Amino acid sequence: MFQWKKKLYRGVCLTFFLAITVTVLQRGSPPGLFTQDEQKRLESSELLSAHKRETHLSNDGFWAPKADRLFTETPYNTDHPSEWDIISINCTANSNLTKLSWFTTLEPNFQQFLLYRHCRYFPMIINNPQKCSGSITLLIVVKSIITQHDRREVIRKTWGKEKEVDGKKIKTLFLLGTAMKEDERANYQKLLEYENKIYGDILQWDFLDSFFNLTLKEVHFLKWMNIYCHGVHYIFKGDDDVYVSPNNILEYLEGNSSPDLFAGDVLQKARPIRKKENKYYIPTSLYNKSHYPPYAGGGGFVMAGPLVHKLYKASETLELYPIDDVFLGMCLEVINVSPIMHEGFKTFGIVKNKNSKMNKEPCFFKNMLVVHKLLPDDLMNMWKLVHSNLTCSQKVNIL
Ligand SMILES: *[C@@H]1O[C@H](CO)[C@@H](O)[C@H](O)[C@H]1NC(C)=O
Ligand SMILES: *[C@@H]1O[C@H](CO)[C@@H](O)[C@H](O)[C@H]1NC(C)=O
Ligand SMILES: *[C@@H]1O[C@H](CO)[C@@H](O)[C@H](O)[C@H]1NC(C)=O
Ligand SMILES: *[C@@H]1O[C@H](CO)[C@@H](O)[C@H](O)[C@H]1NC(C)=O
Ligand SMILES: *[C@@H]1O[C@H](CO)[C@@H](O)[C@H](O)[C@H]1NC(C)=O
Repeated sequence: MFQWKKKLYRGVCLTFFLAITVTVLQRGSPPGLFTQDEQKRLESSELLSAHKRETHLSNDGFWAPKADRLFTETPYNTDHPSEWDIISINCTANSNLTKLSWFTTLEPNFQQFLLYRHCRYFPMIINNPQKCSGSITLLIVVKSIITQHDRREVIRKTWGKEKEVDGKKIKTLFLLGTAMKEDERANYQKLLEYENKIYGDILQWDFLDSFFNLTLKEVHFLKWMNIYCHGVHYIFKGDDDVYVSPNNILEYLEGNSSPDLFAGDVLQKARPIRKKENKYYIPTSLYNKSHYPPYAGGGGFVMAGPLVHKLYKASETLELYPIDDVFLGMCLEVINVSPIMHEGFKTFGIVKNKNSKMNKEPCFFKNMLVVHKLLPDDLMNMWKLVHSNLTCSQKVNIL
């Protein structure tokens, strides 16, 4: 049994390693990156120093005055620690709850959520504090989980590709917690660390990557931004299974620049779901109002950099809510900012009808900002088609 697992693990490692090597070669990095010495160095060196590798590459003075006109610089707030200041987990279940009758009748997953809801912040396992040095026009932030490295790979090759065009810098980050299963934690963590050595685009915190912990990911991101990231003009935040057009997003932002901008696929008066079978079911003991505040689907939305600090402050006044995009809507309500509905964000509903033209039509994708939902192969194909010499009177079937 043990032998078998070991073999499997070795197989997984080897495959991943090959994939990475091929990618590295394709990206034109110097050969010999993985000599034995280098490998040893990678294994032994500590993660948090990853930033040293990249800082000298950043270019602080490039920002052209012409482009500046579109994006006003974020005013710096100094009321934040200089680095991630949570260094130990001190989180015990809230035993006050177990005595309450409404609590004892709740479903186990909600009990679990409530028992640890007060544990607000966790230590970082992988940090990349250098990521936000200098001015960034669009920071692309992707919610990911440790086992989905194929999705991260294809995002890095398509919409998450870091680049600088006309003085506009695009950077990408992936947000992760820890693996849900014990064996995944043992096997995948090392691979994630290699991945981060190569790309330097991972933020990982020491909490379980469960569905109800997505809100935890949201508040950790806001806190991280508040510490490390002040020169960002706009942020795109979304899932790892969507199609995104950074060009269309930038074009939209140029015409709609505002320090309070928050735009996406907005639901104005969504009702909490009370059917227990539904993934988004919420018992009245957790939320007893008839409607949620307006919120944008978490599959993908954009917001102005200066809004992040306000959202962080607002988030600290609220208790965590198990649905992350609704939670962000609650934060927006606190600071009195209305999210803007934009037709170019398709984060709800499209997948329902698999035969819908919208699922296959590159000319449809060409005009969108975000479309839910495309997995790696389909995403790569669609990306290539949209970026080929597409004549938009002609139909192409790809899915
Ligand atoms: C954890 O919290 C408890 C009380 O909340 C405190 O007594 C204890 O010293 C803390 N431990 C650490 C390591 O911070
Ligand atoms: C539990 O109740 C005590 C007394 O009311 C309170 O001080 C404490 O903060 C509560 N614990 C949590 C985790 O809320
Ligand atoms: C969230 O993560 C923490 C830390 O890993 C864990 O104790 C807690 O059970 C998780 N919560 C849920 C609802 O999965
Ligand atoms: C709804 O919940 C709030 C806070 O959780 C509570 O103060 C209020 O009494 C509840 N309202 C009803 C009608 O149950
Ligand atoms: C795409 O169009 C451009 C200009 O219209 C042309 O220069 C280029 O060769 C075309 N590429 C392909 C692959 O057809």
